[in-house]
Amino acid sequence: MAVIFSGIQPSGTITIGNYLGAMKQFTELQNEHDCYFCIVNQHAITVAQDPVALRKNIRSLAALYLACGIDPDKSTLFVQSEVPAHAQLGWIMQCVSYIGELERMTQFKDKSKGKDAVSAALLTYPPLMAADILLYGTEIVPVGDDQKQHIELTRDLAERFNNRYREVFTIPEIRIPKVGARVMSLTEPTKKMSKSDPNVKSMISLLDEPKMIEKKIKSAVTDSDGIVKYDKENKPGISNLLTIYSSFAGKTIEELETQYEGKGYGEFKADLAQVVIDALKPIQDRYHELINSPELDDILEQGAEKANRVAMKQLRKVENAMGLSRKRR
Ligand code: TYM
Repeated sequence: MAVIFSGIQPSGTITIGNYLGAMKQFTELQNEHDCYFCIVNQHAITVAQDPVALRKNIRSLAALYLACGIDPDKSTLFVQSEVPAHAQLGWIMQCVSYIGELERMTQFKDKSKGKDAVSAALLTYPPLMAADILLYGTEIVPVGDDQKQHIELTRDLAERFNNRYREVFTIPEIRIPKVGARVMSLTEPTKKMSKSDPNVKSMISLLDEPKMIEKKIKSAVTDSDGIVKYDKENKPGISNLLTIYSSFAGKTIEELETQYEGKGYGEFKADLAQVVIDALKPIQDRYHELINSPELDDILEQGAEKANRVAMKQLRKVENAMGLSRKRR
């Protein structure tokens, strides 16, 4: 049994990219491992958020985690800001980080490009993420492909700390799904599908109505050769749709290519829309049951209680190793 940690930002509509890259793995892992899943609201505020929307998004993400199959009897589900050790260890990890390595993060470069008012927290986001992971003795971090660089930095920071002080941190491994690690935008298939994309047609939200899903898939960018074949370089649109189909239907890409041999994109897209609609229906039904229920608050309170217990112990060890604590504890 390994310790697993992962987090999702409550910063907009949760997409099928988040589901296929991350959440789907979580539900599989919780049956065999000690899992912590976090609503990383402190990461979300590295860019300005509307308070009313943020509060709503935190609740909505908690309900979605559960609706996707996170079982509170097996996993610890909690809100980051309700466990103060994250911010505390985040500061310590900043002290172990170098500005140069933070400036080299592609996410920082992308998000700060062309802007003159960039929050300091956008730069120091990765040490907070490292703290999230390292607080629980995490061995495996299930994430989508875009988080690779952050996990590598987490490993570097943990090793640096262990070498400088003493072996407190476990060095975590990344776990990326074989299919669905990088779901692309429906409108620009060479770009990642992102919940913060202002063009809603580029993404499918886990809460999109069937009609909307049909419409978005129908208008997804493809190519003009009419052959359902995986070729990421030359046919990024169809390749992305094949990936989505494969992940939701549990069929291999080769099986799908054979199934649609000699058939056009129209039929392929109509079937794909139905596959996505059918897969999301039970998630949406459960979401609507949960979103206003007091059960949701109970689960998050119990989750925070357990996470606080584990995280405080680890923080004490860190403070002790560094000589931060007045007395040796
Ligand atoms: P976030 O909120 O952007 O995304 C949450 C998870 O969804 C995955 N993901 C995708 N996977 C496949 N295709 C896509 N188009 C796609 N878009 C997003 C992400 O890889 C991620 O697994 N920095 C993190 C949040 C975080 C975290 C952590 C994650 C904070 N602390 C500790 C793991 C461990 C982020 O912004 O994810």
